[in-house]
Formats: sequence, C-alpha cells, structure tokens
Amino acid sequence: MNQKTASQINVPLLDLNRQYDPIKNDITNKLLTMFDDKRFINGPEVTELEEKICQYTNTNYAVGVSSGSDALIISMMGLDIGQNDEVITSPFSFFATVGCIARLGAKPVFCDIDPNTFNIDSKQIESKITSKTKAIMPVHLFGQCADMEAIQAIAKKHNLAIIEDAAQALGANYQFADKALKKAGNLGTIGCFSFFPSKNLGACGDAGIVTTNDKDLYEKIKCLRMHGETQRYHHKYIGGNFRLDTIQAGILTIKLNYLDEQHNGRQSNANYYNTHLAETIQKPIINSNSPSIYNQYTLKTAKRDALKDYLTKHTIGNNIYYPIPLHLQECFTYLGYQEGDFPEAEKAANQVLSIPIFTELTKEELEYTCYHINQFFKG
Ligand SMILES: Cc1ncc(COP(=O)(O)O)c(C=O)c1O
Repeated sequence: MNQKTASQINVPLLDLNRQYDPIKNDITNKLLTMFDDKRFINGPEVTELEEKICQYTNTNYAVGVSSGSDALIISMMGLDIGQNDEVITSPFSFFATVGCIARLGAKPVFCDIDPNTFNIDSKQIESKITSKTKAIMPVHLFGQCADMEAIQAIAKKHNLAIIEDAAQALGANYQFADKALKKAGNLGTIGCFSFFPSKNLGACGDAGIVTTNDKDLYEKIKCLRMHGETQRYHHKYIGGNFRLDTIQAGILTIKLNYLDEQHNGRQSNANYYNTHLAETIQKPIINSNSPSIYNQYTLKTAKRDALKDYLTKHTIGNNIYYPIPLHLQECFTYLGYQEGDFPEAEKAANQVLSIPIFTELTKEELEYTCYHINQFFKG
C-alpha cells in the first residue's frame, strides 16, 4: 500500500461537477440563447436533438419526451397496449419498467434473468407467451444490450412487438451473428431512453426520447405527445403532455457531442477494475458481441451487505441496483408471484453492488477503491 491509498479519501459514486465544469461555458451560452428565444415549448432544439439521436442510433425517427418512464408509457400507448394484454419483461430492473406496463392496465409477465449479464434470459421467454402477449420488453441493464438476436427471433415467430427499455444504454452496440452491428434503440420495434441526470447522457432534470424505424408508429407517438392532437384542438387519440422541454433538449444537444468520450472513460475505468481487482471477485460479465457502456459497474458477491458497509466506512460511493426484485414489490402482490419464482433475479438483488465508474474518476480514486475492495476480500 502506498502513502496515497493509506490515507482516507472520498470517492463519490458519481460527481456531476466534474462532468459539467469543462462544458460549463458551452451550456451557459446555450441557455442564454434559449432564454432570449423563449420558445420553451417545442423549440427548435427539440427537433435538433431528435435528428441527432436518429443519426447516433442509426434509426429513422425519434420523438423527445418528458422522461424515460414516459418514453415507455407513450411507446405502449402507440402500440395500443392496455387492458387484457400481457408484456413479458425482467423482474430485475428499475421500477419504471414494470410500473409503466401496470399503469396502462396491462399485465407484466416476468421472466427470470441470465445470472451473468443480469438481462432477461432469452431461453425462458417462449414459455411465458400466451394468446394475450403483445410485446417483449427487454431491459439493457447497466449498459449492456440484452440477447437481442434470440429475442428478435422469438418476437418474429410469435408476431410480438419489442419495446427496448434502453434507459441505461444509449450508445451501446450489439453485434449479430452475421456481424451486423446495431445500436440500442435500433434493435426492436421501439427504443426507450432516459436522460435522467445520472445516465451516461444526462439532462439537467427529467427528459427522455423514443426511437423507431416504423413511420406510422412515429407519427402516432408524435401526436400522442401533444394530447393526441392532429391539428390544434383536433384530437384523434387520448394522448397527454409528454413533451420534452426545449431547455433540456438544448443542453442534451451539447452533451451528446461528448457522449462517446464519456463511454471511453467509463470503459477505461472498467478495464482498470478488471485488471486490478482480485481475480476471485465477480466483476461484470460482458458478452463480446454486446460491449457495455457501463452506466453501472456492478460486482456480485454473497458478502454484499458486509462489502457495502466496508466501502461506506472507507468513504467509497456504492449503491444497490436493485435491492428488491420487482415481482416481490408490495404493489405487485396482485400478480400472485412468490419468493422463489425467479431465483436468479432474487439472488442478484441480494448480491449486487455497484461501485464508482464515472469517466472523471482519478487514478488515485481507482487505486484507493481497488485497494480497499481487495483488502475486504482478503480479510
Ligand atoms: C431501466 C430503466 N427504465 C426506466 C427508467 C425510467 O427513466 P426516468 O427516470 O427518466 O423516468 C430508468 C431510469 O431511471 C431505468 O434505469
């Protein structure tokens, strides 16, 4: 242990100051322009962001919306998913994945996860399909795409929509067996993204976007975003206010220029952990055809709670994403699931711990974090 690792330092789980400082002037200037312009609703920055996200994800259409949760809701509204429909998804995700299905009156049908990637286990999906199934909603958890080749084949065979919950995965690539390379958001019927501030591309508040190659779906969703209006005060659908703020869109157009740089920084920190954390520690298991953008770097250990306390004591930021699998949440009791129904999701909820991975971590912070994690497992 060198002098630096010996003295206690504070390693935050995420430090947005360090991300903003270098681009502060660009953002401030953009904000001033937008305040001068005052087109706070549906301003030109919204369209600009949509065009840029289409280019970035290589999709034909994008619609900016108010959050990642609203991206999920509006996608399902666009696909007419509601009462008496079933949507197959993962029980190991952020609440919104499943909350949005339930809010529309549809039934969330859970499918256990692959214990390595924490993503939905594609081998188990077909056994969950019934005559009521309308869609599969894979979640690209922590920044790694789900097993989309298999999921696409199942969806095609059973004529189901695929709603990608890509909230954590803007920019994540997925390579098919024929070597075709596509990005998250271009791997299903519709892709849903969140710009929550802690995402790799984070807004200064709530924001989200959907991407699709389906022109009719795009047009319907654009309409749903504005209360279902086809022209002023003519409502074809019962939509809502799902609009993306002009100000958030403007900030995001600037930050998007730095997104790949952000990914590279996270990848390089992950490489550091992969080589400096003891071999016996279970680090993220990343398939070679679906490299992660590391929205989270997540360890898995039976000693998770003790590790969490230890890291907290040594002022190393950490968090459990997610401590309770969704089938065991109180609000979903009505679905009738029980403990033991999805053993891998339950095990993950008991064993995962995410550690700092943000781009601007210093070498000293990485060293300090590795030193203490290794010490914990030695002890
Ligand atoms: C997997 C997943 N789905 C959905 C969401 C919802 O996004 P938002 O917080 O922007 O509504 C999030 C974001 O936290 C998420 O991580």
